[in-house]
Amino acid sequence: MYDATVDEVRGRRIRVGGQWLVDWASCNYLGLDLDPEVMAAIPPLVERWGTHPSWSRLLGNPRPYLEIEERLTELLGAPDTLVLPTITHIHMSVIPVLAGTGHVVMDAQAHKTIYDGCAVARGRGATMHRFRADDVEHLEEVLAGIPAGEQVLVAMDGVNSMTGNAPDLVRFAEVCRRHDALLYVDDAHGFGVVGESPTAANPYGLRGNSIVRHAGETYDNLVLVGGFSKAYSSLLAFLALPTWLKDHLKVAAPPYLYSGPSPTASLATVLAGFDVNERRGDALRQDLLRRTRRVLGHLDALGVRTPNRSGFPIIEVPLARAEDIDAVGDFLFDRGVYVTLAAYPLVPRDQVGFRVQTTAANTDEEVEELCETLSELARRFPLQEAEQQDAAA
Ligand SMILES: Cc1ncc(COP(=O)(O)O)c(C=O)c1O
Repeated sequence: MYDATVDEVRGRRIRVGGQWLVDWASCNYLGLDLDPEVMAAIPPLVERWGTHPSWSRLLGNPRPYLEIEERLTELLGAPDTLVLPTITHIHMSVIPVLAGTGHVVMDAQAHKTIYDGCAVARGRGATMHRFRADDVEHLEEVLAGIPAGEQVLVAMDGVNSMTGNAPDLVRFAEVCRRHDALLYVDDAHGFGVVGESPTAANPYGLRGNSIVRHAGETYDNLVLVGGFSKAYSSLLAFLALPTWLKDHLKVAAPPYLYSGPSPTASLATVLAGFDVNERRGDALRQDLLRRTRRVLGHLDALGVRTPNRSGFPIIEVPLARAEDIDAVGDFLFDRGVYVTLAAYPLVPRDQVGFRVQTTAANTDEEVEELCETLSELARRFPLQEAEQQDAAA
């Protein structure tokens, strides 16, 4: 399940060579990649604007860009937004600008693209520090060691791409504000899935407007980064930021000046995605929640550990013996279950396993098939036991 050629797609089933599998590795959480309304939005916009604007954004912005930023700013409840093609472009170009020759303080398990952005910042003269994953007290200690008055950027993930859990953003934001550090949060997996006013019955909250609103936080001293390439199935990414910073990045962040922009098809699917989100997004998230709960409940009944405590649709299943990973991969592939394998050294040995992502486009039958396969897997291979979860938590 690495570097596979996918020959055909039918709904959430994919064909790899002669094998049909259900795709549990997709990040298309809302299923918009397969939504007829979203697909139908592409041809009319391409007819008006051609396939690709080709100008860098500084050179010329097709009007749909402005509409996207306006609608996104309203959805997020942010002061302003700036869109660029990918989050990777954003981290590599914006983290160095925000860190300057000061300090960048990174969650030790932050996504690799954050790390790469921090490494570029270090190359330009910033000092790099790390704090233990999800450990606010350790962040506070690191910040206390930095001389007052120096420029400090704290970079971390929102909804974690492996555990499916969200950090306690309120505490992180409070510590950063107290130390006058700018907090920079990558919510690639939360945007479109989590949103404002969560409750125990609806832990995802409403509108999918990302982790800041989900936590009831503000954008004071906080820059949110997110992307459309997961829940919205489109190639575009954004920063939520104050207008003065947006204006500065227009001349200081190289992708705005020099990179090719997102294709017109992506602009069309983002705009159609906003429409669908407004009318049907909360219903899609209810489906997603129901399917995710079914899988989490099944793992619980099997006594199998997953780090997921949030109920968000990212479910990692760590193995008891890291060396089983190849055999587990073969077993799942043969049973028609396509997952993301997390092998050593991509993850530490005690986290070797696989990750399942549920999407609104998976059917209930597919979920039941998955649960059966997980039962069989648990009989054949030792998995970490749920009791260990409590000890780990
Ligand atoms: C947390 C996180 N950040 C960034 C990225 C990269 O996003 P993009 O494809 O927009 O560069 C990913 C993709 O997997 C991710 O999971």
